Amino acid sequence: SWSNEQRYRAITDAKDGELSALEAKVTKSIWRQTYHIQPNYGLLNDPNGFCYYNGKYHLFYQWFPFGAVHGMKHWYHLTSADLVDWQEEGVALMPEFPHESHGIFSGTGFVEEEQLYLFYTGNHRNETWQRRSSQCLAILSSDGKIEKVTEPVISGPPKQYTHNFRDPKVFKKGNHYYMLVGAQREALEGCLLVYVSDDLKSWKFKQELKTNHESFGFMWECPDYFSLQGQEVLLVSPQGLKAKGNDFQNIYHSGVFIGEFDEQMVSFDTHAFQELDKGFDFYAPQTTQTPDGRQILIGWMGLPDTDYPSDKDGWANCLTTPRELSIKNGRIQQQPLQELKQKRVKTKHQQVRVASSRERLKTIFSEAGEYQVTIKVEDAKKAGIAFSVGENEETVCLLDRESKYFSLDRTQSGIPVATDFGTVRKMIYQQPTIQLTIFLDQSSIEVFVNDGEAVFSSRIFPKEDSRFIELFAENGTAQIDITQWSYE
Ligand code: FRU
Repeated sequence: SWSNEQRYRAITDAKDGELSALEAKVTKSIWRQTYHIQPNYGLLNDPNGFCYYNGKYHLFYQWFPFGAVHGMKHWYHLTSADLVDWQEEGVALMPEFPHESHGIFSGTGFVEEEQLYLFYTGNHRNETWQRRSSQCLAILSSDGKIEKVTEPVISGPPKQYTHNFRDPKVFKKGNHYYMLVGAQREALEGCLLVYVSDDLKSWKFKQELKTNHESFGFMWECPDYFSLQGQEVLLVSPQGLKAKGNDFQNIYHSGVFIGEFDEQMVSFDTHAFQELDKGFDFYAPQTTQTPDGRQILIGWMGLPDTDYPSDKDGWANCLTTPRELSIKNGRIQQQPLQELKQKRVKTKHQQVRVASSRERLKTIFSEAGEYQVTIKVEDAKKAGIAFSVGENEETVCLLDRESKYFSLDRTQSGIPVATDFGTVRKMIYQQPTIQLTIFLDQSSIEVFVNDGEAVFSSRIFPKEDSRFIELFAENGTAQIDITQWSYE
């Protein structure tokens, strides 16, 4: 366990050789990803400042360098021309001023007048370890230099709200700039606060955003806002929702409201809250728009307050693959980023008819890459595909025709994670055919269902040699088609 002194050090406090020793340890981890964004060492959490600026995509993430714990957070910076190959730019923001002495927390990248405005939360702990939060600004210019505004642009929460006050989302609407800040009422209920500005530097508090989700968890984190197909979308990570049916099964959740702001920008008329991911590890996603108008989402493939098996190797967490959003029948659909097809190197295909049996593939193995799987159930009660199969290990995608659901099962995926929250995730599914697009990496699986109706994002921690793929049908027959594109 880490003392506060060990947890609250900035990267510039590293002792000689400390970080290279940590990196050497991390490199030996069998769970290092091959194509997902992950920290070189230490702990990654939320994506931050996702935007397109000066001819490329910029993406930052929350980073604690010294080990797999939530400690002093920095913003680590990456850039990309195509959202596929990322170049590491190093640490962009680290604590310098008293108001951010305990971390640079999450926020937005907002482009205006050829500059990239980075809004973030300054996290400070006072002498009695009480949290003090302020909203802060740094400006990245086209020459790559980042300059911080030395004082917070918002020094603290308004009366009647706690210092759980963070993760500013900034955007322009009409003639004004707006900021939504994740907040908590003194009654310990989550909400968003609305600020307005005409110059991005001086901000005025308007009021709490009114929604018809007045009492919905104890804290709202990481708001995002965008318009899509002529509709407005508010994205948020509310903490403290209770499990309901197949929804909200993890410790914390992220989702969207589709609705409409009123003209005053103080109420958002919305109907249902749609959970964004049905898997085990997903939180605090952010979106940006591509120059050709697509809305792209990236999430943290991990959760707060959760231990991961790679912690002992000196690193934790990664981001999801990028996804393209659309709205269909009033719901957000998520499809894999088109550009990911660039990564396809080799392809293999196999079609198998399984009749009350289980078959291990002899030419296709669980390797980092993409899989298209179609399961057509004829008269079987259950059919599916198991990845990363080895001795007592497997990660199972299952179509259950009897109970009418599709599930991702990580009961036997390897070293267990967060088992208090269960080991199976389900969605109701009525049809006899299902089409899956699956992204597999050394320690993760992302399963897209049909046209992006649902995504299941999960970390898995199998043994190194759990590499087989098996197809199965129970009590009857099924036809299973698998195409693999390996990435290297
Ligand atoms: C969400 C979060 C944010 C905060 C950041 C700190 O995971 O708790 O609310 O800004 O992580 O790392």
